[in-house]
Amino acid sequence: MGQLDGKVAIVTGGTMGIGAAIAEVFAEEGARVVIASRNAEQGEALATTLGSAVRYLRADVAKREEVQALVDFTLTEFGGLDAMINNAAITGAFHNRFLDDDLADFDQVVNVNLAGVMHGSQIAARHMAKQRSGAIVNLSSIAAAVPGYALLTYRAAKAGVENFSRSLAIDLGEYGVRVNAIEPGHIPTRNSAFGEHPALTAEQSAELTGIVDEIYNADQPLKRRGSPRDVAYTAAFLASDRAAYVTGQVIAVDGGVTAGSAFNQNRLLTEARARYLKDLGIG
Ligand SMILES: NC(=O)c1ccc[n+]([C@@H]2O[C@H](COP(=O)([O-])OP(=O)(O)OC[C@H]3O[C@@H](n4cnc5c(N)ncnc54)[C@H](O)[C@@H]3O)[C@@H](O)[C@H]2O)c1
Repeated sequence: MGQLDGKVAIVTGGTMGIGAAIAEVFAEEGARVVIASRNAEQGEALATTLGSAVRYLRADVAKREEVQALVDFTLTEFGGLDAMINNAAITGAFHNRFLDDDLADFDQVVNVNLAGVMHGSQIAARHMAKQRSGAIVNLSSIAAAVPGYALLTYRAAKAGVENFSRSLAIDLGEYGVRVNAIEPGHIPTRNSAFGEHPALTAEQSAELTGIVDEIYNADQPLKRRGSPRDVAYTAAFLASDRAAYVTGQVIAVDGGVTAGSAFNQNRLLTEARARYLKDLGIG
């Protein structure tokens, strides 16, 4: 028996990266799934690969009428909607310093990452409230949890997603509709392809990816980068009846990054002190 037997789900941005893994795991767990993105060719191909329980519809989550059409399509195709996974997002231009950022992509990032999540949540919830059950899972990011360097518009939009998700859980609780968010950590996808650059050969790109991974792993409690499926398993749990009493939560799937740096001050102090004493021949 699958964790999601009999459920119908929508996964926005479900044609690659984390979204594609969510669609795959949901189908394996018995759900029927509609995946949506702006790239129809890629979407149709993935839906065909995943089998008859998966359909594709082209939809831009920043356009409310297209999100409405997506929910209507799902209700027609599969006769219901139990889980809305608002996963689609864009990172925006990577500006190291805010003073250099002209905010040219502000509208786009906020419209997709925040307004898109709000459209998806509201339109799905209008159906779910009537059936008095449903699960909404919104993809946030550790960038919302931990203030940090660069991507300030992305961080702000994702922080908005988290407050929105918690607030919506309070609003929708009386209808039996649950709302939770996931904060992925460093998951290698197109979204986080620090090792890629158009001028690099495949070999150079692999080398740079190795350097990047080393930096990620040094600071992270669990010494590996996550996989899209690591995130998908948590999405499946939150969408399933096993999470029937879980709402208004933000769950990090991040190898422990938000628990704290592996290079925290106490560790560095302890190691520096031990080295100093050893050099003096003490202890
Ligand atoms: N990969 C990571 O390290 C990481 C870390 C933290 C959070 N996240 C979040 O996880 C989610 C998935 O990220 P990913 O790495 O798989 O990204 P990705 O770029 O690999 O995939 C994003 C998907 O969203 C779709 N999409 C983008 N704009 C859209 C729009 N306007 N309408 C419909 N679809 C649209 C794309 O076509 C693609 O299918 C995002 O919300 C992202 O912010 C990812």
